[in-house]
Amino acid sequence: MNQALHLKYRPSTLAELVGQPLIQTTLINAITSQQIAPAYLFTGPRGTGKTSTARILAKSLNCLDSPNPTPIPCGQCQSCRSIEKSSSLDVSEIDAASHNGVDDARSLIEHSSFAPTLCRYRIFILDEVHCLSNQAFNALLKLIEEPPPRVIFIFCTTEAHKVLPTIASRCQTFNFKSLSLSTLVGHLRHVAEIESIDITEEALNAIARTVNGGLRDALQLLSQLRLLDETITPVRVIEVSNGIHLEEMVNLLVNLVKGDTIEILKLARSLIDGGKAPQLILSSLLQVYRDLLLVKSTPKCYELIVGAIDYKILRQVASVTDFEVLMASFTQLQKSEAQLKTSINAAIWLEVCLLNLIGNTTPVQPKLNRSQLQFDVPRTNGNPQSTKKRRNEDLTSIWASVVEIAKPANRGLLSHASLSALTQNQAVLTVEARYVQKFARNSQTLERLIGKALGCLVTVKIKQKAS
Ligand SMILES: Nc1ncnc2c1ncn2[C@@H]1O[C@H](COP(=O)(O)OP(=O)(O)O)[C@@H](O)[C@H]1O
Ligand SMILES: [Mg+2]
Ligand SMILES: [Zn+2]
Repeated sequence: MNQALHLKYRPSTLAELVGQPLIQTTLINAITSQQIAPAYLFTGPRGTGKTSTARILAKSLNCLDSPNPTPIPCGQCQSCRSIEKSSSLDVSEIDAASHNGVDDARSLIEHSSFAPTLCRYRIFILDEVHCLSNQAFNALLKLIEEPPPRVIFIFCTTEAHKVLPTIASRCQTFNFKSLSLSTLVGHLRHVAEIESIDITEEALNAIARTVNGGLRDALQLLSQLRLLDETITPVRVIEVSNGIHLEEMVNLLVNLVKGDTIEILKLARSLIDGGKAPQLILSSLLQVYRDLLLVKSTPKCYELIVGAIDYKILRQVASVTDFEVLMASFTQLQKSEAQLKTSINAAIWLEVCLLNLIGNTTPVQPKLNRSQLQFDVPRTNGNPQSTKKRRNEDLTSIWASVVEIAKPANRGLLSHASLSALTQNQAVLTVEARYVQKFARNSQTLERLIGKALGCLVTVKIKQKAS
């Protein structure tokens, strides 16, 4: 049975702690110089190493293998092992979330009067200490003010502002930082290598981006992903981390490009009703626009895609949208992301933000009205519009507008063809026999050109003109 990675890779010495260099150095120096404070307060986001460091500190102070506190606890002695198993008599780990009452505080105070049984220090680790009631806090206050000799408190919390200032001011405080993307990726890569987990660099990045700077969540996600038993890709990361499903994302993007207000609002509603946070919707969209910009500006960037939408669809959308438009949308999404974080009514903000995007994303040179825009997107739920044959003069004028936006050097060649049919996602070109080959070789360019003229995505079919 595989052990969960976040438990297997719990750091056991300060040296193994990642991404907290300041805390590492300060604690090592304190231990080495035996300047031990009676109370510590570890604050910071979840999964950044607070509980791990509290245990390491306890081991460092109490390791029996060393005559004094040591920054490198042995991990083997009775004290070290019992702390790792949370069964030490001298080191009590108390979950303040479930022991938050004044009675719990009183019993702790009582216990603190006993001398350590085996070790140098009697240590109390109070996790989630912000959950203590005010009464419990106040009961503890006196103890922390004048702790019995050989008693040390380590308070951990994700919500420093909820700790009474009178308590906080009596503690030596360490602020654990969210881990940077590169630190997260580096550590994940390290673990994946040791564990022989098959994962792409982009997927490592995708994990790092979804976890908000916490290593526990990152490792948990990696544990879950390895069970898929296939190469881990960004798309899998998004699926497993309960990100927004590919289909929904494509649907949203397509309607943004089409500028279909009603459909966009409906999609946003159904995502929110389905339990997706507006923040998540927005940040997923941000990734997609980032990918679109990349596709637009860099050919062959396949490996750099991070969002849920795959390269082929991105390329189709990018080919009918201007770089400036994508850039404007991206910038706007970024701004909204910040607003959404602080907003009480995030759902409404999201809607407003999406509607604002429509202004940006209207396709270049829309020669047809919006209801006629069609996208060749697989697996979307959008109602497929009926295939409508356009009248001949329509086709002629569409073809003329294609020729018009082509490079001047290519216009001559294009005049040897005509647009003979246009269905929902296919343009049929009838080409003079001697040019058929040449047109076929350049079908991608043609698709891009026609797509741009129509403001939609098309594939091109070449037919030889009957002579
Ligand atoms: N700074 C870190 N260095 C190395 N591993 C970490 C770090 N922070 C978190 N982890 C990983 O996440 C798990 C949970 O960390 P923990 O110390 O319980 O976080 P916290 O108490 O801050 O929520 C650890 O077992 C370890 O695998
Ligand atoms: Mg913790
Ligand atoms: Zn030891």
